[in-house]
Order: sequence, then structure tokens, then C-alpha cells
Amino acid sequence: MKKNSILVSIDVGTSKTTALVGDFDEVGELNIVGLGISETEGIEKGTIINPNSVVKSIKKALKDAEKVSGVGINSAVVNLSGPNLEYQNISESLTFGTNQKEIDEVDIALLIEKVEEKINKDQYKIIHIIPKRYILDDENEVLDPKGFIASKIVGEFHVILIKNNSYINFKRVIEASGVNVLNFVVNPVASAMATLYQEEKDMGVLLLDIGGGTTDIAVLKDSSFEFVGNIPIGGNRITLDIAHRFRIPKEEAEELKLEYGLATVDALIEDMEIEINQIGSEDTATISQYELVDTIEARLEEIFSLVKKEIEAVGFLDKINGGVVITGGVANTPYIKELAYRVFNTDVRIGKPKDYRGFSDRLNSPEFSTSIGILLFKRNYFSLKTNSTSLEKESDILNIFKTLVEKIKSLF
Ligand SMILES: Nc1ncnc2c1ncn2[C@@H]1O[C@H](COP(=O)(O)OP(=O)(O)OP(=O)(O)O)[C@@H](O)[C@H]1O
Ligand SMILES: [Mg+2]
Repeated sequence: MKKNSILVSIDVGTSKTTALVGDFDEVGELNIVGLGISETEGIEKGTIINPNSVVKSIKKALKDAEKVSGVGINSAVVNLSGPNLEYQNISESLTFGTNQKEIDEVDIALLIEKVEEKINKDQYKIIHIIPKRYILDDENEVLDPKGFIASKIVGEFHVILIKNNSYINFKRVIEASGVNVLNFVVNPVASAMATLYQEEKDMGVLLLDIGGGTTDIAVLKDSSFEFVGNIPIGGNRITLDIAHRFRIPKEEAEELKLEYGLATVDALIEDMEIEINQIGSEDTATISQYELVDTIEARLEEIFSLVKKEIEAVGFLDKINGGVVITGGVANTPYIKELAYRVFNTDVRIGKPKDYRGFSDRLNSPEFSTSIGILLFKRNYFSLKTNSTSLEKESDILNIFKTLVEKIKSLF
């Protein structure tokens, strides 16, 4: 019988850093056995502005996760996010002429190698090459072409890249916290793994992870990622809007938002007065809840409209028959479903992480979708081996196939 595998995820968010210790049993079921959550300092809009503060936040989350689980942590799978990620759709083909052949791993590896050749490696590091579909002899679309006979294969891939400098800087911050990075997983991919049902992924779904600093976007259809993106606006922007409008400190704005905030004024049954302490004034002032909610609604509506425009531009707006799923901390805003429905005009639900056990009283909330999703992604797409400390050894799908090709090549 296979042994259990312990695996750690780190989600360095703009608001909080989460470290989870996952225990995968012999059939791959995930049990969370430890967690550490710290407030993140030093990140704005998904970009590191103070590396030392970020290191401190990660160290604190790791220390707590070690204490709770009793597991010493020296390696982890880590999220990647922010405006420095880029996304490309790339197609490549192989033609076998009149010699039809059975498609195998080597063909897929060759297609992926061709995709890799198209990327400027002086500028970018490839994070994921996610196969979308394969087309055989220009007519049959399949998700897994292995074993089919064809004279031509086209592979369509979704490629996720990050600028080399951002990659190196972020990796250094993680390593300075005392952990080796096993793999990176980008936020929208992780959150999609944790929240979406198979039916939604088949029908076409728009996933939004609205966090503190960024809104991550993923569109899936026919079970594959069609589009992944990111808008550098999140809940912290809403807090700042409140702080500016009512001239109050950020901390007070955040408190007001959490206590009295709603996503839309349509949900206000009756208005009420709220006392505030304005900057530079000794006396308390009052605002109406309507004004507060109106401020939140304006910014949320802007986020939804920007997302809508972006997915319309790439041609997916009319393909999300499975609806919209909202996750991330901002998904906790009461009536956000109703507001999103008004903009997207399709089913909307709040996505919480699923497919795990342990600490669910704490983790059963939208802000933990990325953390849980990182572990699930690792289980589904990479080997669960945790003794590998070199990122280059098994950093992405590409390298797994490359190793395969090398193995097969060395047989001849
Ligand atoms: N009940 C709530 N109502 C409204 N907003 C909330 C609520 N709970 C959390 N938030 C907001 O969610 C945001 C934090 O979300 P989350 O923890 O997902 O962010 P993060 O992962 O740290 O950041 P990011 O992914 O953007 O880098 C904050 O802006 C916070 O104010
Ligand atoms: Mg997040």
C-alpha cells in the first residue's frame, strides 16, 4: 500500500498569508492537518513592495502551521499572482503524412516542446502549459489523444508565463523564508480547482477570485481552461474608497465595510445612521448606511464590468452557460450574488473550497479557495513526491513530458 504524502501550500495574498499542511491518503484524499494564517505586509495590488515584510508574514504563517501540525516544513507549493503574469493561447501541430500512427506521450511531448520554443525565455519563465484540446485529422476534438490513430494532430494550449525578474524576486522571497519551492500554481487555476463542479466546467463557467489586491479570472469550458486573467483591483480598493469618501482612516473604513457593508443599495430595507471619526476632527460625524453601500456597489460594479468587458473581448461571454462563481474574501460581501447577476445576467453562486477534510470550520470560506486549490492542483497534475527540492526537476507539465521523452529516447 502506498504511504500517505504530506504536502504544504503557501498562498501569499495581498491581505493574508496562509500555510496549509495537507496529508494525502493512499487514495489521494486530502486531509488538512495544520494551518497558519498571518496578515500579509509588503504587498500591494499583487506586487511585492517590501520583501522583508513579506518574508516575516510567510515565516509567521509557516511557524503556526508547523506548531499545529507537528510537521517540520522545508518545502511547499506556492501561489503566483499579480499583474506580472501573462497568458497566451498557442496551437502547434504534427503531421505524419500518409503514415498514420497511434498517438502517444512522445507526440504530446513534441507538441509541448514546440510551444516552449515559441516563448522568449530571456524574458519569461513558463509556469504552466495547460492542454485545452487536441484535434485529430482536422476534425475530431479530444481531451486526451493517446491511443487514437491519426495522420495529423493539432494541440491547443493555454500558456501561463511570468516575467523573469518578477519570478526570480518572488522565488527569492519564498526561499528567504526558509522553504524550497516545489511548484508554483497561479491563483485563478488553484481557485478553480478548489471550487468548481465538473458540470460547470463542462458547460462553461466564469470563476472570479476577488481578494484584497487582485481579481483573478478563469473561464473553463469542456473541462479545460479557456482563459485566465487578472485585474489589479480587489477589496482593499473598496476600503480605500470608503476611507477617501468619508475622510476616515483605512482601519476604520475596513471595520465599517465588514460591519455595515452590502454589495447593493437595492438590498437596504431601511437606512440607518453610522457614527464615524473623521481624520483631523475631534467630534464624531455621521454618514448613512446608504452612502456606505453605494460606495461599495460602485467599485464592485466596476470590477464586474471590467471582467465582463475582458471576457467579451476574448469571445467567452456567451459561452458561460454554467454561470458565474465568485470566491475570494470579497465574496463574503452580503448580496454580491445579486449584484453580479445584474451585470452578468446568468446564474451566480459563491464558491467555497471543497474536496478536503480537516479544519473545515475555519477553512470553509471563500478566502481559502486558493490555498486548498494549490494542494488539489498538485495532486492532479504533478507527482506528490515531496522530497524533490529542485524546482527545475518537475516544475511544470512541460518538464514531466520532457523527462518522459528523454526516457523513451534513451531506449533507442
Ligand atoms: N465579510 C466581508 N465583507 C466584505 N469584504 C470582505 C469580507 N471578508 C473579507 N473581505 C475582504 O476580502 C479581502 C481579502 O480577501 P482574500 O483573503 O481572499 O485576499 P488575499 O488572498 O489576501 O488577496 P489577493 O488574492 O488579492 O492577493 C479584503 O479586502 C477584505 O476586506
Ligand atoms: Mg487571494
